Parts: sequence; C-alpha cells; structure tokens
Amino acid sequence: MRIRKVRLIGFRNYTDQTAEFGPGLNILVGANGQGKTNLLEAVCFLSTTKSHRHASDEEMMKDSAEYFQLDCTTETEDGPSRLSAIIHRKGKTFCVRGEPVRRMSEYVGKLNAVIFSPLDMNLFDSSPTERRRFLDIELGKMSGIYIRFLNQYTQLLKNRNALLKKENPDLPLLDAISEQMVKPQAEIIRKRHHFISQLNATVSEYYRKLSGTKAEIKLEYESMVPYHADDTILQELIQSRQNKMKERDLILRQTNFGIQREDMEFWINNHPVKTYASQGQKRMIIIALKLALVNLIKERTGEYPVLLLDDVLSELDAERRNALIELLPEEVQTIITATEKEAIDQRLWNQARIWKIEKGSAVLWKN
Ligand SMILES: Nc1ncnc2c1ncn2[C@@H]1O[C@H](COP(=O)(O)OP(=O)(O)OP(=O)(O)O)[C@@H](O)[C@H]1O
Ligand SMILES: [Mg+2]
Repeated sequence: MRIRKVRLIGFRNYTDQTAEFGPGLNILVGANGQGKTNLLEAVCFLSTTKSHRHASDEEMMKDSAEYFQLDCTTETEDGPSRLSAIIHRKGKTFCVRGEPVRRMSEYVGKLNAVIFSPLDMNLFDSSPTERRRFLDIELGKMSGIYIRFLNQYTQLLKNRNALLKKENPDLPLLDAISEQMVKPQAEIIRKRHHFISQLNATVSEYYRKLSGTKAEIKLEYESMVPYHADDTILQELIQSRQNKMKERDLILRQTNFGIQREDMEFWINNHPVKTYASQGQKRMIIIALKLALVNLIKERTGEYPVLLLDDVLSELDAERRNALIELLPEEVQTIITATEKEAIDQRLWNQARIWKIEKGSAVLWKN
C-alpha cells in the first residue's frame, strides 16, 4: 500500500499542508526542529490513531488550538481509499472514505505504516509496558480480531479490579468475570507467540545483512503460562493459574495474573541486548526488527506497509546506510528524514522524491 497524498491541518507546527508522496523513496530534508518528525508522526497517527511519541492529542494541536485534522489518500490492492482523523478537544472521529467508523477495528489496518524512530531504542531499557505496547500496536495492524480480544480483555480487567477494590467483593461475580477472561487471554497469547516466532524467523538475517556480522538475534516471549498449541490445554493452564492467584488478588485488591503482566526479552548471541549490545548494535537490531515486520505485514495482509525512517541516515555509518538502502524492497514506499543534503548520497538523491521542510512547511525540492 502507498500514500498518495497527505494533508495536515492544525497539526503540530503545520497550519495546512498537503504533500503528494512518490511511490518509492521520499526524503524529508530540514534542519532541527522544522517539522520532519511531525510529518512522520501525522502518518503514524493516521495509521494507528496514536502518536508514536506517546504525545496526547492536545499536545499535537497547533499552538493549543481546538482541533487538528489529518487526511490521506492511499492506494491499496483494492483501489484508492481515503482516511481522515478529526481530533477535537470534545471528541474524535475517524473516517474511511468519508464515513465515520463505529469501531476502531474498522479503521486500524486500513493504512499500515511501520516507523523506525530513535525512541524505539527505549524498547530495550524501558518498562515491560513499552514492549507490550509494541506487541499490541504491531499485532493490531495485522489482526482486527486481536484488537477486539484485547479491548474485551481490558474491559473485563477493569471490571475485575473495580470489584476487588470493594469492601466485600461479590465472589460469584468475581468468578464469572475471571472465567470470561480466559478465552481472550488464550487468543492473545496464541497471537503474541505466533508473531514473535515469525519475527524470529527473519530478524537475524536482516541484522546480519545490515551489520555485516554473523550475530544471532532472538526475541523471547515471557508469557504468563507455558505455551501450548492445543486451545483447551492453553485455556486450562490460564484458568488454573488464575484460580491460584485469586486469594492473593483478594488480599492485594488487584489482578496479579494476566496478559497485562507479560514481557519480551531480546538476545544477541545469547546475551541480553539491554546490557550487552552497543548503541549501534541496538539501533541495527531495531532496524532489523522493523524490516522483519515490514515483511511479516506483507505476508499476513498481502500488502507492504509504508516504511517511515526517522533519523537513521545520521545515526548509521556510510556502510550500514548503504546496506539498509539495499535491504529495502523496491515496492515499499519509504519516507526518510535527513538533516542535511550531504547525508544523502548521489544514488539516493537521484532515485528519491525530496522535500525541503522548513518552519512547518514542506516544499517539493526534487521530483
Ligand atoms: N502543538 C504544537 N504546536 C506548534 N508547534 C509545535 C507543536 N508541537 C511541536 N511543535 C514544534 O514542532 C517543532 C518540532 O518539529 P519536529 O519534531 O518535527 O522537528 P524535526 O524537524 O524532526 O527536528 P529534528 O531534526 O531535531 O528531529 C518544534 O519547533 C516545536 O516547537
Ligand atoms: Mg525529528
């Protein structure tokens, strides 16, 4: 899939900006603080309904205005489509072809984008919440069912925790809620497990090509229960662990077991990436992970996502930069940021559509 055109109204430092992207490589060139990341953030927002920088909706409204609006025209296997997000202080509307959607699962997945951002480096060092966020956002792009199960589970968890906070919780009700939580968890665990195995199948290869070394990269899923392919057994495992934790939950007045506690660990040659890998290696692991993801999305949905690369040109040495460009499949529409023209070698310059970004405006520099 590709973005043909994007329009930002009152978003960050953009007043009303339209940009028509080329089908292949697009480069946004501009000094620090001019609006390059903001433009990528707008594309991410259209894709996931969230800022990849974890900004609140209000923060993205230009100079604290009342609303912002993002529109884009995409080209997909099924033909052109239109997506809009109108985010007002009083509420938000997401539209597909001009029609507001009722459920987020009708919207998410219509524009798939994968971003590499320097913030991704936090994936190794931050709390498990970050890593679960990664799993949930990326899986959500490929599976509307995942989003539905996750929403269902989150609501049940909220109800269960509210019940546990009460002076004398209604125990039969607690059991009934707990029972309903088993199936969505089994489905989510299955999808997380499958997703991580699929990433493991290709991530090392991308890393090797990118780094020119032979390292082995592995993602390890730290699930709440040992994985079992049989659905009945998996559900029984969840149920029995959940039952065991019930007394503790009642004492601590919160749910202590569940997919909201899961995590994931990264390994490089059997050493934990977090404490063993260099900054440059960490960066390449993330890029390799994103490339693996781009391919997985293509495999699962039949279409390549749009790839957004923020600040990679300045962060990689010339050899790795070339290796990265070589690794990008030709059919993938890519938008890269660069702080100066010099970071772009002649070959890239020739093949890319280039934009000059200055003070919240994007001007076509080279078609
Ligand atoms: N809500 C907002 N309203 C107006 N301006 C904003 C808003 N949020 C951020 N900005 C401005 O946007 C600019 C930052 O833009 P952005 O992060 O896209 O920079 P950049 O071009 O990626 O720079 P760098 O090369 O440093 O990463 C800053 O000047 C900031 O003041
Ligand atoms: Mg930036």
